[in-house]
Amino acid sequence: MPDFSDTSISPDAPIGVFDSGIGGLSILKHIRAILPHEDLLYFADSSFAPYGGRPEEEIVARSLAIAAFLVEHRAKALVVACNTATAAAIKALRARYPSLPVVGVEPGLKPAAALTRSRTVGVLATKRTLSSEKFRLLHQQIGAAADVRFLPQPCIGLADQVEKGELQSAATAELLHGYIAPLIVQGADTLVLGCTHYPFVQPLIEKIIARIASAPVAIVDTGEPVARQLKRLLSERNLERIEGTGTISGFTTGGESALEDAFSRLLGIHPEVMRVAAGN
Ligand code: DGL
Repeated sequence: MPDFSDTSISPDAPIGVFDSGIGGLSILKHIRAILPHEDLLYFADSSFAPYGGRPEEEIVARSLAIAAFLVEHRAKALVVACNTATAAAIKALRARYPSLPVVGVEPGLKPAAALTRSRTVGVLATKRTLSSEKFRLLHQQIGAAADVRFLPQPCIGLADQVEKGELQSAATAELLHGYIAPLIVQGADTLVLGCTHYPFVQPLIEKIIARIASAPVAIVDTGEPVARQLKRLLSERNLERIEGTGTISGFTTGGESALEDAFSRLLGIHPEVMRVAAGN
């Protein structure tokens, strides 16, 4: 485990980023833009995706196993690029690696509360995220303080559509319509993307909104604030790399070609991808 009292830890060490699958690439995109000199290790736990319907203990166990793999590969920081894994496992990860910066991602209720005029906000996320204690507390705290009504909407099957590359298909449009329309009918003028897979269907979400909503609807995605928080933590510890061109390496418990294809389609990049046994 890296020890930050040990001055031999170099800013040249990589940053570990993980998700149940390819959703975390929506966070990786912002990390690359904000921290272009950093080497990034991206881990997709594709043979276990989606996490959204799995028991919490299983997600904790997978997150700890992936973190151990990334730390073995010298990660100087971890980004849990998955709302579901953050809700289930961030406490356990911070307890296991107390001196490592661990950045998580959670639904952007606070920015949404600042944006909404109708005081009604739809929250699109996995069933696991929405039923977590972490989300319950966030909901309670922000909802009461800002006098906003949050409408949690579990989007069963949506992360799967993104994993399959169906970003514009009729089936994905139908699924999304079924989730979004009731929120608009109830007065939501702001939608939170509470799963890192969902920014990849934002164009389709916007098309559906344009068809069914009579007033503008704001969409909240927390990818950029997460990357900024990572930069802040690295810089506070003098661990930010400030020169050189960052590299990206991909690891997956699924098929290499699926992750290679996602890198290429979603980010236009072609990093090397290695398959990792699921026991890791
Ligand atoms: N990308 C994930 C999230 O942010 C999880 C999707 C899933 O595996 O169900 O919640």
